[in-house]
Amino acid sequence: MPRLLTSFVALAVTLAPALAQPAVSLLTDNGYPTSGTLNLVSTLQAVSTRKGQTFHFGSTYDTYDANQSWFTSVFSTFYKHVVSENGCKWDATEPSQGTSSLTECLACQSFATTNGDTFRGHNTFWHSQTPSWLPGSFSASQVVNTIIPQHVQQEIQGMGASITSWDVVNEVVGDGVSNGMTPLQCVQNKKVWPTVTSDGSSTALVTDLSFIYAAFKTAFTYAGSSTRLAINEYNTGGQDAKTACIISLIQNIQNNTAIPFNRLAVGFQSHLTASTGGFYTKSALATTFSTLAALGVESMITELDISLNSNNQANLRYQAAIWGDYLDACLYAANCNEFINWDPRDDLSWRGTSAAATLFDGNGNPKLAAYEVAARLANYAAGNAEPCATASGTSVCTITGSGPGTGTGSGTTTVSKTTSVGSTSVSTPGGGPTGCTSALYGQCGGMGWTGCTSCASGSTCKYSNAYYSQCLA
Ligand SMILES: *[C@@H]1O[C@H](CO)[C@@H](O)[C@H](O)[C@H]1NC(C)=O
Ligand SMILES: *[C@@H]1O[C@H](CO)[C@@H](O)[C@H](O)[C@H]1NC(C)=O
Repeated sequence: MPRLLTSFVALAVTLAPALAQPAVSLLTDNGYPTSGTLNLVSTLQAVSTRKGQTFHFGSTYDTYDANQSWFTSVFSTFYKHVVSENGCKWDATEPSQGTSSLTECLACQSFATTNGDTFRGHNTFWHSQTPSWLPGSFSASQVVNTIIPQHVQQEIQGMGASITSWDVVNEVVGDGVSNGMTPLQCVQNKKVWPTVTSDGSSTALVTDLSFIYAAFKTAFTYAGSSTRLAINEYNTGGQDAKTACIISLIQNIQNNTAIPFNRLAVGFQSHLTASTGGFYTKSALATTFSTLAALGVESMITELDISLNSNNQANLRYQAAIWGDYLDACLYAANCNEFINWDPRDDLSWRGTSAAATLFDGNGNPKLAAYEVAARLANYAAGNAEPCATASGTSVCTITGSGPGTGTGSGTTTVSKTTSVGSTSVSTPGGGPTGCTSALYGQCGGMGWTGCTSCASGSTCKYSNAYYSQCLA
């Protein structure tokens, strides 16, 4: 987790010694719905239109989860992207050496297809949830030259070319890393198989990064031509030693495998806590995402959940603010197009029901954070400017006014960002914001459209049908 933020500590001590969280302002305080059914299908289409590519908003699923009919409903109307929580891991997919067993992984992919969703692969290499025949007593050469390539090939080839991205390696960087470490030092710091004979042991096995290169080279050979190949990691996203390791490792992988940067990705798991220092600020995430964008590497939020110290209204608001900031960091970054939550409802969450770490409560009903997520997506889809970082608290960021989408034609969203460098505000009257433009090929009108109605210079708004007008050159 990131280091404590001094300003939060000072604020907590000065203003609210009894509270673990700052007061926050939300888009859902400003005219966006906080009750009722959430259907994101058309909003997500509009988000993708503004992005110029499909935005994959999803969560985890397995066929043996309880509440299957609830899953079907939520993955038809809210989430439109699926990751199998367990069904594509090594223990499930190669239970005995050389035997490919993709039944559950394929069934999850089929669930996605049936509900009109895309599918992401997690994962081909991880030291944990390995089959019982691993680590075994194989030599380093057998692991690198036979076991890993065989597994990665049979899984990626078997799942087909439509996978949006694969976590090729999962959690390979240590927690005790420091700035300036080489990629090899970062990976050896982890002290798990296969750099050591078994997790926690100190007996070296693979003494270089060849096992990672083997996994990536095989993945590149057998994956679809637009599938992104990722390293996926927890406690990463800011300007810290572990994130620095991840950034240097992805460059090292490119250099040693010749896989183009525009096929690589970094997955930021983002298992967070709604407490001081339990998450990265939006600006810290944005800086990291743009570092990767400069290389051509995608950034993905792959396993977001936000655990609460106690399930009360102030914490639910804080959770909604953090969720909103992470989502905005991804939405407004050109290289972030997958945003995935780990477990879709509190009673099925690996963090435990009482952590209340997901968007839907133990009865499967949307929580405030789910409505805030819907509001941030709608705000982005409408062509609006990026909101300020609400998880920083109202002393730094306040959103006032009533949001677009209320259909009255008179609403106004004013995003006030009050910092030492001054303030900015963006006015967006409901029913068609003024002072904003949709990009070329973006939506600019249609029944129910509440986004920008003028087009970027060089393009004009052309009527397609009653529901859709588009900026065309
Ligand atoms: C979810 O599944 C559990 C376990 O089968 C069941 O007790 C509960 O009633 C279900 N809840 C909903 C909302 O479907
Ligand atoms: C790429 O790899 C080569 C050979 O291992 C090495 O000499 C070079 O410094 C590396 N470049 C970068 C940018 O890592």
